[in-house]
Amino acid sequence: MAFLDLAPATRASGSVRLPGSKSISNRFLLLAALAQGETCIRDLLLSDDTERMLEALKALGIDWQRQGSEFCVRGAGGFFPVKQAELFLGNAGTAFRPLTAALAFGDGHYRLSGVARMHERPIGDLVEALRQLGADIRYLGNDGFPPLEIRPAAIVAGGRVRVRGEASSQFLTALLMALPLTGKGATIEVAGELISKPYIDMTLNLMARFGVAVDREGWREFRIPAGARYVSPGTVTVEGDASAASYFLAAGAIGGGPVRVEGAGRDSIQGDVRFAEALQAMGARIEVGANWIEARAPVDGRLQAIDLDCNHIPDAAMTLAVVALFAEGTTRLTHIASWRVKETDRIAAMATELRKLGAQVEAGADYIAVSMPRSEPAAAVSRLCSEPAAAVSRGLTFVPHASIDTYDDHRMAMCFSLACLGGVPVRINDPACVSKTFPDYFERFLSLLAPVIAIDGPSASGKGTVAALVAEKLGFHYLDSGALYRLVALAALRAGVALDDGEALARIAETLPAVFEGRRILLDGEEVGTAIRSEACSAGSSRVAAFAAVRAALLGRQRAYRQSPGLVAEGRDMGSVVFPEAPLKVFLTATAESRAERRYKQLIEKGMSANIDTLLQDLRERDARDSARPVAPLQKCADAELLNTTAMTVDEAVAWVIERVRQRLPQAAAHS
Ligand code: DC
Repeated sequence: MAFLDLAPATRASGSVRLPGSKSISNRFLLLAALAQGETCIRDLLLSDDTERMLEALKALGIDWQRQGSEFCVRGAGGFFPVKQAELFLGNAGTAFRPLTAALAFGDGHYRLSGVARMHERPIGDLVEALRQLGADIRYLGNDGFPPLEIRPAAIVAGGRVRVRGEASSQFLTALLMALPLTGKGATIEVAGELISKPYIDMTLNLMARFGVAVDREGWREFRIPAGARYVSPGTVTVEGDASAASYFLAAGAIGGGPVRVEGAGRDSIQGDVRFAEALQAMGARIEVGANWIEARAPVDGRLQAIDLDCNHIPDAAMTLAVVALFAEGTTRLTHIASWRVKETDRIAAMATELRKLGAQVEAGADYIAVSMPRSEPAAAVSRLCSEPAAAVSRGLTFVPHASIDTYDDHRMAMCFSLACLGGVPVRINDPACVSKTFPDYFERFLSLLAPVIAIDGPSASGKGTVAALVAEKLGFHYLDSGALYRLVALAALRAGVALDDGEALARIAETLPAVFEGRRILLDGEEVGTAIRSEACSAGSSRVAAFAAVRAALLGRQRAYRQSPGLVAEGRDMGSVVFPEAPLKVFLTATAESRAERRYKQLIEKGMSANIDTLLQDLRERDARDSARPVAPLQKCADAELLNTTAMTVDEAVAWVIERVRQRLPQAAAHS
């Protein structure tokens, strides 16, 4: 099982564009499949759960195509065309439950299964309700749980159906979405208390967009009119995921901020946008726009514990359990029994992992209470106002190096990433589980903790000098990625490895015994700062850099440089490959003639002999090789700013970059 080590951090700021909402994506896909006409879905979430739904729809005879950034689904205008299928739905509850209901009415023979955990997640309440209408559904494993077999059956016309509302609102959602297929209308009665009501609101809202208006009486009774049928509204857009927003907003509240999420805001139909209110109740400063939300730490840096009924934000509430570590007092989250039947038993998992960080946790059937012991030094208080983010971590007694298990639960992994803001290193086991809903979560999260300034450009453009000075001014870490390629070339030359033997070079790159200590560069303990700048290493590095396997071997090492409070990374592909989410990218260049002249002066100053024509020709050859190679060629990214230093001094170039940092990353510049 792989792991991800998060370095200690204290500050978080920046902005994040949210991935599409999982709940809306899978609802749109199913509604589009059942509707008459073609629906094009914009900003669909691409993740494990939506892939399971897309695969299932294809297996059921639904034609969908990816067209650029849209998914276009040709609806069946009723039941699924394929009458016999075996569907594997992974751990996607948002696919399993509504498909069960839609297939139960579909006059076909189907088997539905998932991963082992899906077979432990109850579905009896939904099956019971469907059986009341005449559906023929059998349990293939344990009673009340998937896998299921569905056979053709005569469905009772109209009538009433009762469903329990206490375990999961997804059962009611499944019934609501599937019942229009019968064309006969029906009344659903909710037995017991309905949990997670905002998700039902979302279901009704989306059904209405597809032409089916449901009458509801409070949260007890829902009437689907006879003759109701889904009709495509044409093009629809998926909102950003409000549950995913919770991690970033929490980072802003803990780590100073401001952190802005874009893609969900005041106009959102997702209940989890109300997570921001919970953060506000803890003292965070929140601003909300139509399509964005922004969070900052409290003015005095001190988050306060809350006592909250979380029925309305079941998923985002998990995030509060981790924010509780940073708050003064004991946070009690109640009405969260549904956590026990999610991807894992989330109450038990949360309690176990929070304790690893040093928290005091009390957990019950439907609540969790969390507090973090403190040892606040009195002197810290006077500094609070000027340094809210740092103050939050001060006095907290996080256990360093906790190794957090994630239980194949994306939300556990995302929640616990916040713990590194306690100023301690944290290990997240199996970080890839975030791909259920948010495949590139960690890149985006880290970009708030440690923003990257990517400076790319051709050889001898002066980007190294500029990048190192910018890093110094900002107090950021510095990565000279070219030095890594030079080190590979040097190690290869020394070991007698041919520079055209890609495999052998990749092996060298994987185990490169290189250490950077301030300005010193060590290979196997020997200082090689001068050796790697030799003409042989310069030419050799551009040859080894052309091998994809070498580049792949160095990727993780380069990304590990991104640590709080930030990184200035320079090279050829910093903005395009290594840190594509960098909030500031600069393409720094100068004419080949002026670069050759600068290099010439440097060499002469060092007392070395040089010929300017040869230097110019070498540079042109290296430019051509770096730009023409098929992997990660030197190029200006569309979102990079061009800095031509031909007529600039080093100081002017540094000032130019710092000014861009001020505009794009005011927080980073403020701490310079
Ligand atoms: O920046 P530099 O001159 O020290 O780089 C040495 C060589 O390494 C250069 O010819 C291209 C290659 N390189 C690369 O391919 N990708 C990077 N990110 C950095 C350097």
